[in-house]
Amino acid sequence: MDYKKYFPIFENKKNLVYLDSAASSLKPKCVIDKIDYYYNNICVNVNRGVYQLSYEATDLYEESRRVVAKFINAKENEIVFTRGASASLNLVANSYMDFINENDEIITTLQEHHSSFMPWLNVAKRKNAKIVYVPLTKDGKVTIENFKSVLTNKTKVVAINQVSNVLGYTNPIKEICKLAHEVGAIVSVDGAQSVPHMNVDVKDLDCDFLSFSGHKMCGPSGVGVLYGKYELLEKMPPVEFGGDMAQDVYEFEATYKDAPFKFETGTPLISEVIALKDAVEFLTNIGLDNVKKHELELKKYALEKLKDVKGITIYNNNLDSSLLTFNIDGVHPHDAASIFDKNNVCIRAGFHCAQPITRFLDQISTIRCSFYLYNDFHDVDMLVDSIIEARDFFMSF
Ligand SMILES: Cc1ncc(COP(=O)(O)O)c(C=O)c1O
Repeated sequence: MDYKKYFPIFENKKNLVYLDSAASSLKPKCVIDKIDYYYNNICVNVNRGVYQLSYEATDLYEESRRVVAKFINAKENEIVFTRGASASLNLVANSYMDFINENDEIITTLQEHHSSFMPWLNVAKRKNAKIVYVPLTKDGKVTIENFKSVLTNKTKVVAINQVSNVLGYTNPIKEICKLAHEVGAIVSVDGAQSVPHMNVDVKDLDCDFLSFSGHKMCGPSGVGVLYGKYELLEKMPPVEFGGDMAQDVYEFEATYKDAPFKFETGTPLISEVIALKDAVEFLTNIGLDNVKKHELELKKYALEKLKDVKGITIYNNNLDSSLLTFNIDGVHPHDAASIFDKNNVCIRAGFHCAQPITRFLDQISTIRCSFYLYNDFHDVDMLVDSIIEARDFFMSF
């Protein structure tokens, strides 16, 4: 299936080989058109105007909440719109901080993106709580056995990604939630790299929170989602105050709206939220199983082609994720990236906002290639040719 045709950028940038979707995905026409539609036809604020156009904007905004909720099998009032996964992850930690006490333990992993565990580092410092890391296997995986080895009745929170943004492993979230709940802990899942690529059902996982970004799943940048179980959102305090989230405001007192609205102050990201619905519907129509299958075919093809290429270290040979993370031996990833760039191949070089796992790999930086539905075998050929060219140019192999 040729998915490139849905993405106008390929018409405008004929030679583009985009292999950096884990950083941000490209946008299909339906999403771009919806943003256009909003500004050309509606253009006004939500929740406040007492006129038809504002009702229309509010209806579209709330319709998006319904569609996003259905997408992850949540209830509508369990969806908070934020600025992105980072904002969602911070919101959980900053609000849930009220329920953390001295000597409580917060379990996380070395796999995390900085946005997943740094908010809890801050909580731990402020509350004199303790951060505890799940020991990883030698190839960087989280196992249930290793998780159990750090779970105690002091554990109050587990902050963990569903899919790592460096190695791409899928963590056993369902089992982790079950075990965490047995000791009374809550689980905040970073779904930034899972929700765009696989079916995620929050009821089935029984996670307490799930955070993800629109821009990594064909949606607009600037919008993110926080799912939270309603009974938790209900008791958690807001962390930002002001317009729209308040119920009654007096000189020295204020009451707040119910969740999710108490967490959404100020003018929201209107066109972004509205167009997120189109991204969700676009992915749903294609089917996330098909997206995943397509990505894995590409990764399999890439691994096959790289099998006999000398001078490359691949850190994740696994065939369950669409990320390919590697280094060209003796070549700095940024040097290699200059060759990729010359060939119009966009990849990511650096530590991917995940320094602990990069250090775990004994590296300061890696090259990450991430496949999505619009990539094809030609893109993989370009990637492999660029790897060989970079190796030969810098290493005179
Ligand atoms: C696993 C993971 N978590 C969180 C984030 C943060 O997402 P955002 O930059 O959209 O807030 C990213 C982005 O790269 C990510 O890959």
